[in-house]
Amino acid sequence: MNILENISLKNYNTFGISVNAKRFISVDSVYQLQQLLKIEKDLFIISGGSNMLLTKDIDKLVVHIDIKGISIDLENENSAYITVNAGENWHDFVLWSVDNNYGGIENLSLIPGNVGTCPIQNIGAYGVEVKDTITKVEAIEIATGKLVLFSNEECNFGYRNSIFKNEVKGKYIITSVCFQLTKKDHNINSSYGAIETELASKNITKLTLKDISNAVIAIRESKLPDPKKIGNSGSFFKNPVIATTHFLELQKKYPTTPSYKISDDQVKVPAGWLIEKAGFKGKRFGSCGVHEKQALVLVNFGNASGEEIYQLAQKIKQTVFNQFKIDLEIEVNIIK
Ligand code: EPU
Repeated sequence: MNILENISLKNYNTFGISVNAKRFISVDSVYQLQQLLKIEKDLFIISGGSNMLLTKDIDKLVVHIDIKGISIDLENENSAYITVNAGENWHDFVLWSVDNNYGGIENLSLIPGNVGTCPIQNIGAYGVEVKDTITKVEAIEIATGKLVLFSNEECNFGYRNSIFKNEVKGKYIITSVCFQLTKKDHNINSSYGAIETELASKNITKLTLKDISNAVIAIRESKLPDPKKIGNSGSFFKNPVIATTHFLELQKKYPTTPSYKISDDQVKVPAGWLIEKAGFKGKRFGSCGVHEKQALVLVNFGNASGEEIYQLAQKIKQTVFNQFKIDLEIEVNIIK
């Protein structure tokens, strides 16, 4: 096994944080991972590194999951059942699906990260969540080295949430994800405001998967920073759900507060709006800051440390709480 020493993780996390791994190994097969688990179990797993904030050097053996491959398991008239290995880039898989006319994930175009991590936080954007296309998740149990299957139901998916962030956190390594995608009568989801606006200018009558994917790419490129240019981890916080009574109070003071009704008692408020109203949008603090076009995204202008970004997040949390009495929950995995 090729274990390397003192490797910078700067290129392995989308925030571009420069911390070191004392020992580092890249694995490209399930077999290799199982062999590794026979000699060492206390591992730090990294895949696309798109949902983590590294704040210090990593003492554990860092394992980069680089298991590649896409296979079509079964096809019928309506659906394709596809297994994708964990190390495949998410957006490349979306583009491959769109090019092959497999529908269901086109709204999730351009989300950073790899396929193996998409179930952990149940990635979602523009009215679609990945849980709606996942049939099962294959993972290795760290304690035994055995391969285990989680059905969609067992994954216990919720808004930016799953069993992998809760009950079984740190106990499994996801090795592949199985999807059911449509081959015809695609469930085209263009109702999200920004997509409608983007498509309206194009005069398209019959929407294809490619049209939706292109629209989402255009919206994301206009609002969200490209991690290859400015380090970031997408939305840093979750959109908070608050009591309707609390929301009505808020509305008296801020009549234009955007909201989505969750139930009669609960309302979701966009964290980006709260952070903007708290005065942080586009503000720079040393080497890090809040993105100028989407306040939910914290950015690294080059040399920020993870701790600096974490401190900025705390400051935002405190200010938003003082102003709105809403406690923002961090969505990104903080590695302390
Ligand atoms: N808003 C502001 N100011 C801002 C940002 C947003 O006022 O700086 C307002 C917008 O005007 C709009 C509302 O907030 O009324 C919602 O904004 P947007 O459509 O940009 O979406 P979001 O709720 O901020 C969520 C996801 C994104 C996803 C978009 C589109 C979460 C935590 N974030 O953001 O996901 O791309 O919807 O579906 O749910 C991610 O998770 O990394 C991510 C980027």
